Amino acid sequence: MHRRDLIRILGLSALAGAAGRADAFAAPDAAPALVGAQTGLAVRPPDVELVLTAAPGEVSILRGAPTRVSRFAARLITGPADTVRSLRGSYLGPVIRFRRGQKVRVRFDNQLAEGSIVHWHGLDVPEAADGHPRLAVGPGREYIYDFEVTNRAGTYWYHPHPHMRTGAQVYQGLAGLLVIEDPEERALALPSGDAEHLCVLQDRRFDARNQLVFHDGGMMGMMNGFLGDRVLVNGLPQPTIDVDAGWQRIRLLNGSNARIYKLTWSRDVGMTLIGGDGGLLERPLRQPVLTLAPAQRADLLVDLTNLPPAAELHLETLSFPERDAGVVGMMGGGGGGSVPNGAPLRVMTLRTRARKGLAYRVPERLSTFDASWTAASERIRRVPLMFQRMQWLIGGRTFDMTDVAPEEMVAAGSTQTWEFHNVPNGMGMQAAHPIHIHGRQFRVIGRTGGDPNALREGLADAGWRDTVLVLPGEAVRVQATFTRHPGLYLYHCHILEHEDMGMMRNFRVTQAADV
Ligand code: C2O
Ligand code: CU
Ligand code: CU
Repeated sequence: MHRRDLIRILGLSALAGAAGRADAFAAPDAAPALVGAQTGLAVRPPDVELVLTAAPGEVSILRGAPTRVSRFAARLITGPADTVRSLRGSYLGPVIRFRRGQKVRVRFDNQLAEGSIVHWHGLDVPEAADGHPRLAVGPGREYIYDFEVTNRAGTYWYHPHPHMRTGAQVYQGLAGLLVIEDPEERALALPSGDAEHLCVLQDRRFDARNQLVFHDGGMMGMMNGFLGDRVLVNGLPQPTIDVDAGWQRIRLLNGSNARIYKLTWSRDVGMTLIGGDGGLLERPLRQPVLTLAPAQRADLLVDLTNLPPAAELHLETLSFPERDAGVVGMMGGGGGGSVPNGAPLRVMTLRTRARKGLAYRVPERLSTFDASWTAASERIRRVPLMFQRMQWLIGGRTFDMTDVAPEEMVAAGSTQTWEFHNVPNGMGMQAAHPIHIHGRQFRVIGRTGGDPNALREGLADAGWRDTVLVLPGEAVRVQATFTRHPGLYLYHCHILEHEDMGMMRNFRVTQAADV
């Protein structure tokens, strides 16, 4: 049966609309209607339906003139009232809250002056819902996403993914958090409400008229990645958050284009990590610092019960040698920024109220992982990360919209070990690359090689990850079980300028039989 017939039979006019865009790029191989059809002809209506609009806007960020930005806005059509919630004072996309098991439909309405498409970073969704750049829709057009929330509870996010324009669009303000809840996490009764803070860290640069300054697309800015000269949290410059003197849960996303943070608290409270990209860790981890690369998330607990009223606790990024994050080009100096990677900066402040807050005992065990992940996988695929002919290459290649190399074919649901090797460059150019794989979360199973590097100390490799930082010279092995959805998916460096200049590749998930 043809897809068009199925669409007619199922009456999926919305899907037909999405698939029927007049675009130059090919439609996904597994068309939305087919995916819907295979998952049951008794089409269950979505539990959550919302419209997500991207449009230009103006906000007041600094004193004086407003700043022109791009903004996501969401309108809930059906679903629990707390599905969409805006972050106080923020121009970033609203926090979207899903519950595991929900069936979701999102209508993305592109009101920008250019093409775009939204990607649900960290989510395991069908090909047609993954936001591949070839699915971008033009100004005034709509794209419909249908998927089921199968991920664990955790801190995920959404952002545009159009070809060569991801960095610019995210920088303009198009990014938002996506929180998934499930019973396992709820049972831990983690600090919530006023004691839970969702924080998106992004560095930005403004001109004298308060307008965002982005790099000019010149080679150096692209090769290094864009760096701003100040850190915003949820779009606000160095906010101070008033909190009760109790336990706090801080959920961080590094939503920066290229800045790597080496985070610590200004008082000796240590970093208590309870979750990463893909939700809860098995056990809490206590470490002095936390390295957070672009796209990575961290879920932290901090105990303020013993602080007097009006005490301040700063979240700071520590100084480290710029070279440890990367230096490209004769000039060095990340993207021509006045504040290079490794510059110490204050990120935000927690200030205690007189009121005593929540007491909490961090459970010794947060989750139980299936032990099978440590099992040796059938084969190891070596993926060199290299700089050659003025380009960042991944597996020796640069991005092509539909190209898939033989070693980029993976069977649906199969498990493989991929070793990313950040190959030293003879000309002394190097960069730490946060490598992200779409689809399912993976495990980091080992690191070898590389020079001493100040970022190594705080690396968060534990738990389920979708983005792993590969330091210069290192070989990092990850064990990935690929999505069960067939189709074309991406893996790439999440320094958005690297991604936009082609440090990205497709992999094709095939039905087990045809590998
Ligand atoms: Cu966060 Cu392919 O992206
Ligand atoms: Cu992603
Ligand atoms: Cu990179």
